[in-house]
Amino acid sequence: MDCLEITGGARLRGAIEINGSKNAALPILAATIFCEGETILRRVPDLADVRQMIRILEKLGLSFEWLGPGAVKVRVEDEMNCHAEYREVSKMRASVCVMGPLLAKRKQAQVAMPGGCAIGDRPVDLHIQGMLALGADFDLVNGDMVLRAKRLKGTEIFLGGAFGSTVTGTANVMMAAVLAEGRTIIESAACEPEISDLAEFLNKCGAQITGHGTPRVTIDGVQSLRGCEHTILPDRIEAGTFAMAAAITNGDLLLKNARIEHMLAVVDRLRKIGVIVERAETGISVSSSRRLEPVEITTQPYPGFPTDLQAQIMALLCLADGNSVVCEKVFPDRYLHVAELNRMGARLRKEGPTVIVQGVKRLVGAPVMASDLRASAGLVLAGLIAKGKTMVRRAYHIDRGYEKIEEKLNAVGADIRRVDEEL
Ligand code: EPU
Repeated sequence: MDCLEITGGARLRGAIEINGSKNAALPILAATIFCEGETILRRVPDLADVRQMIRILEKLGLSFEWLGPGAVKVRVEDEMNCHAEYREVSKMRASVCVMGPLLAKRKQAQVAMPGGCAIGDRPVDLHIQGMLALGADFDLVNGDMVLRAKRLKGTEIFLGGAFGSTVTGTANVMMAAVLAEGRTIIESAACEPEISDLAEFLNKCGAQITGHGTPRVTIDGVQSLRGCEHTILPDRIEAGTFAMAAAITNGDLLLKNARIEHMLAVVDRLRKIGVIVERAETGISVSSSRRLEPVEITTQPYPGFPTDLQAQIMALLCLADGNSVVCEKVFPDRYLHVAELNRMGARLRKEGPTVIVQGVKRLVGAPVMASDLRASAGLVLAGLIAKGKTMVRRAYHIDRGYEKIEEKLNAVGADIRRVDEEL
């Protein structure tokens, strides 16, 4: 099994090119189920999760041809199969995004109900609530959600839950509504830039969506969608992770393509910590001097501080000069990295959905276990500054969301080796 062996201590300097966003690419790939003719997607990141989505879509009758790095041509060859099986869905929760397109385009969707995962329960009740409101029939058969509708009908749908809006739920309901009869209004829609990118893709295909990027999205149903060309937006979570890599190593990085306007909550917290973050002509530049100030962080749906950067900023706060408080309001159990960071000399105390981070002078290398994608990224960041060697085990978690992370970091001065280790 792959491990990342990190020798800490190097200051990172140079430029890193930010990839296309994983969480935009996944629903956009699912949306190609709608497209008549050819679709060409560019800046598609080469990630384990993207390859998994492509495998699922191939089983649903789509064909993919890579035209070069990041560019893929998609075509719908056969519309018979409407079943995304548990074997596939259990490997990646985002596969649930095929539900909306299948139901709208093929009148039926059979999608395995995803189970819990390392970051929490992750229910899909709001997705189903949206489909029911549009007029679908729902049944649960052998752990599969089975939805059917001859014709969906536009309506008003409230998609807020106990933990705020839902990102993939908004994507699913928005996609289900694009061919529905009449107007659909989604209230309390997720405002994430990835949802806007999906809406812009669908509009290029002929959909009529307005208000995306706000909590009130309006969809006027159309008859059909045709393929188009689209470039996936840059990944704000990858950019945020590398910004924190610059900060934790007292380095100086230019994050090419990164869009500061999608990262204002992150930039605000980094600046409060004492990190210098500036808009550059081609992206964002991030550098840091020695002293890090402690801060309070609360994760929230966009435009708040993203839960997908909580583990990474916690690694940074381990080295702040004082006590920080991190409160996780999106996935209150997303704290499996806490015990691992403590193995590296951090002083973290979890109290329910909150972690008190007592700053320490240094971290020390240790073998640690990656539990999910972003937790692993936090451990890699800690390894970059820890004294000695850190072994981040189960590196496959990180490959789900970061393309060639060790190559990118080594190119700016890190010392990371991918090794095969028996667990
Ligand atoms: N929720 C419900 N009911 C639902 C759906 C969600 O109660 O039907 C709750 C969740 O349990 C959670 C909150 O609502 O407490 C927000 O979950 P959301 O549905 O927004 O999460 P998601 O769509 O499953 C996406 C990203 C995650 C990211 C979250 C939050 C994709 C493919 N995944 O997940 O990304 O953490 O939004 O921003 O877009 C990652 O990239 O590492 C990752 C986990």
